[in-house]
Amino acid sequence: MSRVLDQYKRASKSLAGGVSSSTRVNQALGHPLYIDRAEGCRVWDLDGRPYLDLCCSHGATLLGHGDARVRRAVEGALARGAACSYESELHAELAALLCDTVPCLERVRFTGSGTEATMHCIRLARAITGRTKLLRFEGNFHGYHDQVMFGAQELGKFAPPLSPQSTGVTPGLEQHLVQIPYNNVEMLDQAFDRHGPELAAAICEPIYYNAGCIIPDPEFISTLRTRSREAGALLIFDEVLSAFRMCAGGAQRYLGVTPDLCTLGKSVGGGYPLSVFGGRAELMEHLMPQGDCQHSGTYNAHPVAVAAAMAAVQTYREPEFYPHINAIGERLIGGLNGAFQRHGVPGLARGLGARFGVYFGISGPIRNYADTQRHDRQQMLRFIAAAIAEGVYFHDYGGAACHHGFCAAMTPDSVDEALEKLDSAVGRLARS
Ligand SMILES: Cc1ncc(COP(=O)(O)O)c(C=O)c1O
Repeated sequence: MSRVLDQYKRASKSLAGGVSSSTRVNQALGHPLYIDRAEGCRVWDLDGRPYLDLCCSHGATLLGHGDARVRRAVEGALARGAACSYESELHAELAALLCDTVPCLERVRFTGSGTEATMHCIRLARAITGRTKLLRFEGNFHGYHDQVMFGAQELGKFAPPLSPQSTGVTPGLEQHLVQIPYNNVEMLDQAFDRHGPELAAAICEPIYYNAGCIIPDPEFISTLRTRSREAGALLIFDEVLSAFRMCAGGAQRYLGVTPDLCTLGKSVGGGYPLSVFGGRAELMEHLMPQGDCQHSGTYNAHPVAVAAAMAAVQTYREPEFYPHINAIGERLIGGLNGAFQRHGVPGLARGLGARFGVYFGISGPIRNYADTQRHDRQQMLRFIAAAIAEGVYFHDYGGAACHHGFCAAMTPDSVDEALEKLDSAVGRLARS
């Protein structure tokens, strides 16, 4: 038996389901990938098999695994004792760097995960406005806390009945949600006409990467901005995944639309657990101790993660960083689409910056979650299994369409190596 499969059996005796996070089971493999080590754009499993990594820690390791700059910063923090639950000069230095980089940020707070960041951001918006309702978009993902764990019973509808996406979610919380499809200006107007004065906030993925890669129509995102402002509701961009993905200022800089509050996660910590929420100074003053909205945590802004984030964000700000990301993206996504065409497989890769989606069998536009449901998920699972067999790792999270991505450690040569393997994988798909 392979060591990976053996590990799954052994791990399952003490780790629930053999994993530390439910979505770590790759649905295309039927088990998790247990890795031994990682370097740059590659990971090695317990059997010593190498893979070019197109998961990249679900987007956290944008610089690649074991980046030397991040590692030096981490070692520096460890050498100084890594005392957590205290403030240091570096905390404020990182905060200032982020405020200088991301348009809506004048003040920030640090948390450990994207889930905590959206939870605190929503609480803050409710504290500021004294309202409870939240406008959100079908399929947009905002983490695992109870308030955002509801999905529509019927897709494409205006404010449909919602059901919890997990057992154990507090019943009744859906009364605070108004959910509509993404990229639908008519329903957006309707939502503000009906519920505007009750809305504490509207929250969205400004680039909808959790459905692969959906870029909002300019009219949709500008109407969202205008109508939130007019309604006195705060606009929250959940940039846990989109931050630093296509430019240092994130999706808000790319789209030219500034929200009131935003969250940053994943890549901000350079592969270490750090997330951020923040916005204008007068909004963030509502947090204790100045205001009366609570946000605290023993491990908030752990010095190792803060040091790693400092090194990572400084790197994202270097002038050559995004030209490199864009060149790699064009080569990889263009090459993958070329393989689909060559083999007559109805696949489509679409990306922005360092993250992309792959869709199978969809003709017509892909503008919202309902559109992604027309995608041939079984074909996707076969593609991922074939890619992994060839030595390119994609993760399947279990949803309709997933996000994939590459890291800055990728070079034109490693892209070509990945494309050669992916060409064989697509060839297998064509023959199956
Ligand atoms: C847009 C978005 N928000 C929130 C989260 C939750 O982040 P975390 O997994 O760090 O809790 C994710 C995670 O994928 C995400 O993509």
